[in-house]
Amino acid sequence: MRGAMLLSVLLVTTCRFAFSLKDGLVENGNFEFSPKQSDMKGTELIGRYALPKWEISGFVEYIKAGQKQGDMLLVVPEGAYAVRLGNEASIKQILNVTKGMYYSITFSAARTCAQEEKLNISVSPEWGVLPMQTMYSSNGWDSYAWAFKALLDVVDLVIHNPGVEEDPACGPLIDSVAIKALYPPKPTNKNIMKNWGFEEGPYLFPNATSGVLIPPNIEDKHSPLPGWMVESLKAVKYINAENFWVPQGRYAIELVAGKESAIAQVVRTITGKTYTLSFSVGDANNSCEGSMVVEAFAGKDTIKVPYESKGKGGFKRAVLKFVAVSTRTRIMFYSTFYTMRSDDFSSLCGPVIDDVKLLSLRGT
Ligand SMILES: *[C@@H]1O[C@H](CO)[C@@H](O)[C@H](O)[C@H]1NC(C)=O
Ligand SMILES: *[C@@H]1O[C@H](CO)[C@@H](O)[C@H](O)[C@H]1NC(C)=O
Ligand SMILES: *[C@@H]1O[C@H](CO)[C@@H](O)[C@H](O)[C@H]1NC(C)=O
Ligand SMILES: *[C@@H]1O[C@H](CO)[C@@H](O)[C@H](O)[C@H]1NC(C)=O
Repeated sequence: MRGAMLLSVLLVTTCRFAFSLKDGLVENGNFEFSPKQSDMKGTELIGRYALPKWEISGFVEYIKAGQKQGDMLLVVPEGAYAVRLGNEASIKQILNVTKGMYYSITFSAARTCAQEEKLNISVSPEWGVLPMQTMYSSNGWDSYAWAFKALLDVVDLVIHNPGVEEDPACGPLIDSVAIKALYPPKPTNKNIMKNWGFEEGPYLFPNATSGVLIPPNIEDKHSPLPGWMVESLKAVKYINAENFWVPQGRYAIELVAGKESAIAQVVRTITGKTYTLSFSVGDANNSCEGSMVVEAFAGKDTIKVPYESKGKGGFKRAVLKFVAVSTRTRIMFYSTFYTMRSDDFSSLCGPVIDDVKLLSLRGT
């Protein structure tokens, strides 16, 4: 009897592994599995199936860490290899997913020239164009997240450089492509905010010392940070407790682009009722020092929360009490100032927000 039960448990476990995609790198997602020499001409990949586990189109180069481009030494964030997408070039991989579920894609990218570079990431029929104008990390590589809803069980993930530059050696570098299933959280009777602690979000690499950028969702409908929208022009950064200091749980958000990046959620409220919005403001222990201010909004009500950061981790709680004037209230946060890391003046950083609680006051 016990043996039979154990067996059925084992079977169930095996089936889950066989049919569901595991969170982490997609097949050859870090490009460490090299193409055959015969499929390359110099650094250029020749033929649609030259790159193991991927299908390529256009001018795609296979880049080795330490390779030189002009006077520039190319850096690869993970392992020894990356790819570069030339004008109109793309890489594609077929993914087995579960129809109806939400997924987030995380990948690292670096731009190579001064030109404005962009990447179009898509899983048909959804796509998003990620601008790579702003460099958030000083080594030039940033990780980005993008999310989609699977309309089929088998989908094509395409990363495409829509650019047309004069210099064919220009075009973004790509490395470490990963996927994670997302489980959209729901509000509870304890908290009206969804994903209040940012515990549901995109995949973070084990050594994600620079976090993952959540770009503004301009074209795409789904957020890699379920429940939340990134508004304005620039990204916010998703950080984890393994590599940063976070006020609560395993994850938090760092507001890295001043007023240019706002994070927001629209919640249901009852007109005339009084609510309290409370949240943590802190720093991520990443040498982000100085006088910071987080501005929080609940509809038209607002509060400015000053925070003196020594860059060594820590937080304070803040509360905004407001009366709802509508059945929908927009909760939003941004940082008043830009901040740079004291140990690295070319990396943007900022205050951390976490543990966002919205409650209605009884008897109002
Ligand atoms: C996707 O599923 C097909 C058939 O169901 C299988 O042959 C293929 O190996 C799977 N791919 C991955 C990446 O699991
Ligand atoms: C991005 O790619 C998708 C899918 O290939 C395409 O439909 C869309 O038009 C592209 N968008 C841009 C701006 O290139
Ligand atoms: C993470 O970084 C450590 C130390 O730099 C290294 O030993 C380890 O291999 C890295 N792990 C991954 C998954 O890259
Ligand atoms: C901040 O980081 C340093 C060095 O990584 C570590 O020694 C220290 O314990 C961290 N501080 C907190 C509050 O976690």
